[in-house]
Amino acid sequence: MDADHISIAELFENAETFIDEDRTIETRGWVYRTRSSGRLVFLVLRDSSGYIQATVFKGNVENTLFKQVKKLLIESSIKIKGKLAKDERAPGGYELQVSDVEIVHAAEVFPITKDQSEEFLMANRHLWLRSRELTTAFRIRSTLFQMFRQFWREKGYYEINGPIFQTGSCEGGSTLFELDYTKDVKVNLTQSWQLYAEAMIYSLENIFAIAPTFRAEKSRTRRHVSEFWMAEAESAWCSNREMMDLEEEMVVYLIQKTIEHHRKDLEHFERDISFLEKIETPFEVYRYQEVLDMLERKGISLEWGANLGYAEEKALTEDKTQPFFITHFPREKGFYHRPDPQEQRALLCHDLLAPEGYGEIIGGGERIWEKELLQERLGESDMDPEDYAWYVDLRRFGSVPHSGFGLGMERLLTWIIGTDHIKNVIPFPRTMRWYYP
Ligand code: 4AD
Ligand code: MG
Repeated sequence: MDADHISIAELFENAETFIDEDRTIETRGWVYRTRSSGRLVFLVLRDSSGYIQATVFKGNVENTLFKQVKKLLIESSIKIKGKLAKDERAPGGYELQVSDVEIVHAAEVFPITKDQSEEFLMANRHLWLRSRELTTAFRIRSTLFQMFRQFWREKGYYEINGPIFQTGSCEGGSTLFELDYTKDVKVNLTQSWQLYAEAMIYSLENIFAIAPTFRAEKSRTRRHVSEFWMAEAESAWCSNREMMDLEEEMVVYLIQKTIEHHRKDLEHFERDISFLEKIETPFEVYRYQEVLDMLERKGISLEWGANLGYAEEKALTEDKTQPFFITHFPREKGFYHRPDPQEQRALLCHDLLAPEGYGEIIGGGERIWEKELLQERLGESDMDPEDYAWYVDLRRFGSVPHSGFGLGMERLLTWIIGTDHIKNVIPFPRTMRWYYP
C-alpha cells in the first residue's frame, strides 16, 4: 500500500481542500474509459470507491509516456499524480489534471463490450465482476451482512455456526445435494442450520448466523440459486409472534442502514429511495386462508394445502407498498413447525413477503417442542426417523418453546436495490446451468 495514495471517494470528499491547498495527489486504479484527441487523453479511472475523470496533456508528461498512455486499453492498471480542478462537465464535478502516470499493467483487449449476451457475461463472470452494476451491488451487500450482525448483537444474540455437512434434511429431499463423505458414507450439504440451531439454544439461548446454504433447485427462476447465503436466528423462550416482531424491526433497520450508507449507490440503481424510507412497522399479517381468498379474487384458485409459488406471490405483492407476513400455513409446510392449538390443520409459522412483486424473503416459525408431537409429525412424513433421533432427543431434556427464521440475503438485496434477477447480487451465481467459473 502507498501511504500517500488517496481513494477516488476520498478525492471527491476532500476536493475543495485539495484545490485550496493546490496539492498534488496520487491515486490509482483501472482505466474504465479512454478517449484521445491529438494532444489530450481523457481517462476515466475507477477503483472500488468510485470513478473520476482524468486528463493527460501532451506537454505535461514526458513524450514517450504520453504515447504509451494514449495507447492504453481499458482495464489497464495505473497510478497517477495530478491536481484536482473543478469541471462542470466531468462526472462528479471534478477532474484530475495529470502530471505523472505509472503504468502498472497495460491490459490486453478486454473481451466484454456493450450488448453482450447473458451467456457470454456468465461465462466471463470473473471479468464481469468489475462492472459498475455488480461493484455497486456488492458494496451494499457488504453493509447488509455487517448490519445484520450488528442488529442481532445489539439484541444480545450470539453469533455461532452450524455444520455445513449434515445428515438428514431440513427442507425436503428434492433439493438436497448429496456427496460422498467417505467411501461408504453419504452426507448432505446444508439447506438450513435450523435443526442444529435448535440444539444450540439450550446453551446460548439466542443465536444467529450467516451461512452458505445449498439447494439443488431444478427450475429456472429469477429468485433461486443453488448456493446462497442465509441469515438465520433462533431463540429459546420465544413464540412465533415474538419472532415476527423482531424480524420486522430488523427489516426496517437493514433498510434504514442501507439508505444511510448507500444513498448514491441506490440512486445509481434508480431505486425510489422515498419508497424505501416509508417502509415501517407494524407489517400486515394475513393468514394463509385469507391469502387463498385474496388469490381467488385475482382469478387464481388454490385448494387448502397448495404451495404458494412465484406466480402467486407476484400477484399478491405486486401492488403492495409494504412487506407483509403470511401465517398459519397448512401442515404440509414443514414437519418441525408447531401446529396451532386453536386450529390443528394450521401451523404457527410465517413467511415474510417483500412488496413490488418480489415475494418471499423470510421463512420462519415456532418449533414443535413436545417429543410425542414431533414423533407423530415425523411419522406422517416420508423421512427416516433414524436420521432425526438426535433432534427428537432435544425434546427429552428441558425442552422449551422456541422460534427462529431464515432470511435469504440475496432475496433481500435483490428487492432493496430493485433489480430483476438474483444473479445481480451474488459474485458467482450457482444454478443447475451456471457453475463455471
Ligand atoms: O423458507 P426457507 O426454506 O426456510 C428455511 O430453510 C428455515 N429452515 C429457516 C429457519 O427457520 N431457520 O428458506 C429461508 C429463506 C427463504 O425465505 C428465501 O429468502 C431464501 O431462504 N431461499 C433462497 N434464496 C435463494 N435461492 C434459493 N434457492 C432459496 N431458497 C430459499
Ligand atoms: Mg420458504
